[in-house]
Amino acid sequence: MNPNIRLRTSVQLFSLFTLFCSSILSAQDVQLDFDYFKNEVQPIFLSKREGNVRCIQCHTRSSGFRIQPLEDHQLFWTDEQSRMNFDSASSFSLAGEDPLRSRFLTHPLASDAGGDPFHGGGKHFDSQFDPEWRIMADWVAGAKTRREPSSVAIRIIQTNAAGDDSTIIDPQTNLVVGHISDIEIPHGVVGAPDGSQIYITNEVMHSLDIVDARTLRVKRRIPLSGRPNNLGVTSDGSKVYVAIMEMPGSVDIIDVASMTNVKTLPVNGAIHNVYVTPDSRYAVAGSIQTSTINVIDTSTDELVWELEMSSGIRPMTFDTNADGSTKNIFVQLSGFHGFAVVDFASRKEVARVEHPAVPGEEAHLDGLQGAPAHGLAVSPDGTMLWSTSKVYSHVYIHSLPDLEEIGRVFVGQHPEWITFTPDGKRAYIGAAGDNVTYAVDAIKMEAIAKIPVGQVPKRVAMVRMAVD
Ligand code: HEC
Repeated sequence: MNPNIRLRTSVQLFSLFTLFCSSILSAQDVQLDFDYFKNEVQPIFLSKREGNVRCIQCHTRSSGFRIQPLEDHQLFWTDEQSRMNFDSASSFSLAGEDPLRSRFLTHPLASDAGGDPFHGGGKHFDSQFDPEWRIMADWVAGAKTRREPSSVAIRIIQTNAAGDDSTIIDPQTNLVVGHISDIEIPHGVVGAPDGSQIYITNEVMHSLDIVDARTLRVKRRIPLSGRPNNLGVTSDGSKVYVAIMEMPGSVDIIDVASMTNVKTLPVNGAIHNVYVTPDSRYAVAGSIQTSTINVIDTSTDELVWELEMSSGIRPMTFDTNADGSTKNIFVQLSGFHGFAVVDFASRKEVARVEHPAVPGEEAHLDGLQGAPAHGLAVSPDGTMLWSTSKVYSHVYIHSLPDLEEIGRVFVGQHPEWITFTPDGKRAYIGAAGDNVTYAVDAIKMEAIAKIPVGQVPKRVAMVRMAVD
């Protein structure tokens, strides 16, 4: 992304909004909106900015601007607490007036950017175009909702399984263009289809973390019923399914609009990965412990069928029939160096493909965590299946539907996961043992970049992200 373009659009949109408010409404008519404050402004009090202390660390004891404390394990304020925070922030804000007249806005803003000279809590924002400061300023100007993203770009997000951050890659340049910090042990990542936000499972806090695509800060942590692994989102963006990696087994279902965990659906076995099928009709959840594939109907959120395989269920992926419905589930299994094929209609295993040794490549058998092959994806045009091997550090490429091996690419130590760009030209593979993400030209079948990321990169996903 070009930072200049980004700045210019921000300036225009911001001044448009301010102009709109000042021309149509007089300052007295402007009301501070509670829901906008609750859902958009309050997360800023919890977020960790580099070099700063979180607002909540100081202001729970303040006699001036006061933020309600959170109890142990409480991840967000109740409505009653939010109301108290709202009243306190409102008393330092002049609704509809020049933003630089409100202490709420000038105190945390750098003085050379229009802020006041001193804040005992330091300066948190160095410009009026800082996306978090703009959320606060828009609230003071009377905003009721966040603008829809007007410009969205394809990004690759690599979670770092032993890190406290996730790395954002621009597939046009293969450069790192951002980081999502403040989530220790991020497991899985998926994006909202409209580009407004990103969902990351947090193994330390047992939460589903919603990250604002424009601020790159955690906007809400939704409590889960146990320690999460991977997750999936429906194509309309309305629901997120989260794998809970605890026996006897469940999948948590998150309603995106209300940002709540609406159902903990019991399934057969602790769940490692859950996927939403390409037609969004089913969520498919695999258990390592019970070797079971659980299929959930997304219209009723009930378990509709199960299939027990020969060993633990690892990554899965799907191909589709001409009408978009699911044709096969491809599945990697504990202790098996290859993948199996399950026919979705007959609910039976119909084939198994074992990956041969790569001549001249030394076998790695250390640290496999039971999964010699981990990482599966079908190319967007449905003609290839890519499967990564931690033993031989390669991705094995098979044609579909005939499952002939048509290529192999070296992709680093312990490759763990694959994603494609929507045009099918690039594949990205997290090489957990090298702390890099491989970019592979998927047509020529050759690696074109090794992008340095964080510690032990595993899950990697293509997402759409707002860039305005
Ligand atoms: C390290 C502690 C600390 C942090 C972090 C901090 N503040 Fe403060 N803040 C203070 C202190 C101390 C004062 C009172 C002295 C002053 O006015 O600077 C204050 C004053 C204020 C005031 C003026 C009203 C009052 O209470 O006197 C506002 C508004 C405010 N802070 C907002 C914020 C916001 C918003 C954040 C986060 C973006 C934040 N503060 C982070 C310590 C902190």
